[in-house]
Amino acid sequence: MSEKLAATKSRASWKGKWGFILAAAASAVGLGNMWRFPYLAAKYGGGTFLITYIVLVVTFGFALMMAETALGRMTKQSVTGAFSHFGGKFAFIGILAALVPLIITPYYCVIGGWVTKYMVSYLTELPSQIAADGYFTGFILSPGPDTFLWMLVFVAVVVIVVSLGVNRGIENLNKVLMPVLILMAVGISVYSLTIPGALEGLKYYLIPDLSKFSAELVLAAMGQMFFSLSLAMGIMVTYGSYFSKDDDLEYSVRRIEIFDTAIAILAGFMIIPVSVAVMGSAEVVATKAGPGLMFGVLPVVFNDLGVAAPILGFLFFLLVFFAALTSAISLFETIVSCIQDFTHCSRTTSIILNAAWVVVLGIVCNLGYNAWLGIDPMYSIFGIGAYQDHQILDFMDFISNTIMMPVVALLTCVFIGFVIKPQTIIDHVKTSSAFKGEKLFTVMIKYVAPVFVVAILIAYVMNTIGMIQL
Ligand code: PHE
Repeated sequence: MSEKLAATKSRASWKGKWGFILAAAASAVGLGNMWRFPYLAAKYGGGTFLITYIVLVVTFGFALMMAETALGRMTKQSVTGAFSHFGGKFAFIGILAALVPLIITPYYCVIGGWVTKYMVSYLTELPSQIAADGYFTGFILSPGPDTFLWMLVFVAVVVIVVSLGVNRGIENLNKVLMPVLILMAVGISVYSLTIPGALEGLKYYLIPDLSKFSAELVLAAMGQMFFSLSLAMGIMVTYGSYFSKDDDLEYSVRRIEIFDTAIAILAGFMIIPVSVAVMGSAEVVATKAGPGLMFGVLPVVFNDLGVAAPILGFLFFLLVFFAALTSAISLFETIVSCIQDFTHCSRTTSIILNAAWVVVLGIVCNLGYNAWLGIDPMYSIFGIGAYQDHQILDFMDFISNTIMMPVVALLTCVFIGFVIKPQTIIDHVKTSSAFKGEKLFTVMIKYVAPVFVVAILIAYVMNTIGMIQL
């Protein structure tokens, strides 16, 4: 009832379609592009992953982003309200979607802490120290409170921005910083290609090797696509609800996709060829690549740059810090507004509750790497795995990206394909502009995407329990 009432209240709108594109891009471009995409591409066969990813973005990603933003604009509600708008029994899809940021945010802030630490280290330490073998593992495995403190610093910055409500200022800053990040990434990519051995890595990144294709690769690419485009977790529904009735949704969605994907690909150019050069071969990269890739490889590149090294290192991590910050803010905002919707508590209480959750789970993540205060590393308690294998951070990432997001995406497709019907979305999109991808949208949402998600999940589970060999 209250949601229906809320729907009738006037809702703030983005200023024109570019306001929306930039806000959505600020949420989309973050650690997913700079940190997660390159290590996944390095791990899952380079070019094979790249192609799979691009195909998924322009088909499935497009359809889902259109669906989510249109759903938001049509209902003028955030994710839980948008689904229950069509009947209380559909509210669970929105609730499930809203749970995803609860899992992502803590580990996102752990990585945000790593970025903060590197940014500061370039001011206080020599680039050669940061580039030294074992610097990164020494940091995350060190039994002291280091990693916790850096995470706290990152969380504190996010909380300050969210509670001061200065997001707009940060977003404006981001508009300036994002082009600088792109220029730097281009410069680093070009430079790193001159490092001996990098060309082999370039081939690995660009030329698909079909023997590398697997259900796990597709699942990883799909999870990355959801993560990077901020899909299947309600964020785009909320953003869509602020999108003006008169602006062109399809145009905006395409721009966000192109922007986000271009930055991810660029990050791959910056990191993959040089990691093949540093680690010796693509095979080694494929077995060793993990969350630490960016932190282990780029400092080596910076160190080669002589006097410019400290400045470039600092600048680079500062830019990544800003990209991570704007994404973390949008994750925080989503959870804060959901907590408020459910508990009707004040915004301040909701921010405190969220921060407490993030810190507690962030500590659990950190305990996957190191023993703090004499507490045994949690991975040995949970038996989830050993270091370099399955960390708690990887495990949370796996639950959200590989399990929950495909399930939310599947439910969204079935809901639109068979409950409210694709035509409802199409009619809505057409109230403001033409819908060129109408056919693609219908076929994807109704048939291809659901069948594909189910098939890939089944194949993956069967493969994991050893029933089939993919
Ligand atoms: N898309 C962001 C990134 O690539 C992460 C994110 C996910 C941000 C979900 C907000 C919501 O880093």
